[in-house]
Amino acid sequence: MLRPRVVSVMFVSGSKGGVGKSTLVANLALLFDVDVAVVDLGVDGNMSVSMLHGVSADCPGFLDSVLLGSEPRIERSKYAGNVYVVPPGRVRGFRATVLSMANRDVLKSRVDRFVSWLRDQGFQVVLFDAPANAELMSLLYVSLLYSCDIINIVVEPSPLCLEAVQSWWDNFSRAISRSSQIVNLIVNKYMRSMNGSLSYLCKYTINGTVHKIPFDSYTLLLSNRCELAVRYREAEKFNKALQSLYKALCHQISSYLGISKSSIRKGRR
Ligand SMILES: Nc1ncnc2c1ncn2[C@@H]1O[C@H](COP(=O)(O)OP(=O)(O)OP(=O)(O)O)[C@@H](O)[C@H]1O
Ligand SMILES: [Mg+2]
Repeated sequence: MLRPRVVSVMFVSGSKGGVGKSTLVANLALLFDVDVAVVDLGVDGNMSVSMLHGVSADCPGFLDSVLLGSEPRIERSKYAGNVYVVPPGRVRGFRATVLSMANRDVLKSRVDRFVSWLRDQGFQVVLFDAPANAELMSLLYVSLLYSCDIINIVVEPSPLCLEAVQSWWDNFSRAISRSSQIVNLIVNKYMRSMNGSLSYLCKYTINGTVHKIPFDSYTLLLSNRCELAVRYREAEKFNKALQSLYKALCHQISSYLGISKSSIRKGRR
């Protein structure tokens, strides 16, 4: 029997943390009309996506699945009927780093098996939230980059962050070798006073585009209270920009699936 394909979308930021990947992933997932699997790679013990969706992270998750071969748990979000979270699992820190030094082919086949498992659960869209230091799990990280269809590099408009992107690009852009893969660049926490053109950032995209998400003080306040900004009208600036990012991603996802944008919406399980 033919099974529908899954589109994997990953959010990365290189060595610079706190740029807003988890905030973007957790909120973006709510905008989809289909069921979305959100995979929390919180190897650093910072399980923001799970927390933002009110999901307990103290159970077997993604890392148990790919590093130990055990079945992960998938938990429905407390706040959105269409969002399901795979927590990071119980393998963390140094142990995760050591275990992810396993044979690259083994890791790659386990990542593929994990994505097929999500497809068997009926998901068409999977969002991976990678923490800043996910590179510590170097071989696993490369396997994930290789298997993802769309990669979103998230940056803040700061010199430190741009340096981190350059070094991410030098180290990992070679891991993206399928001609069909898309790399977008998202400038988060953008302020109007920064004005200047961002066109020079296009060099960090492949078949993709550059997006701006403004700095929004309500979003900061809400996510620090562990609340999802898209549920609040006060975070208007952030939500408007997130809608336009969502539309662009939907366009890319639908061309991957070879269906129209409206079919993604009708694809509810
Ligand atoms: N557009 C925005 N405007 C204002 N604050 C934001 C915005 N996006 C994210 N933030 C804030 O930035 C902080 C860091 O966000 P977040 O935890 O999502 O970053 P991260 O990239 O996932 O970090 P890590 O690399 O540690 O996983 C949070 O306090 C969040 O509220
Ligand atoms: Mg995070």
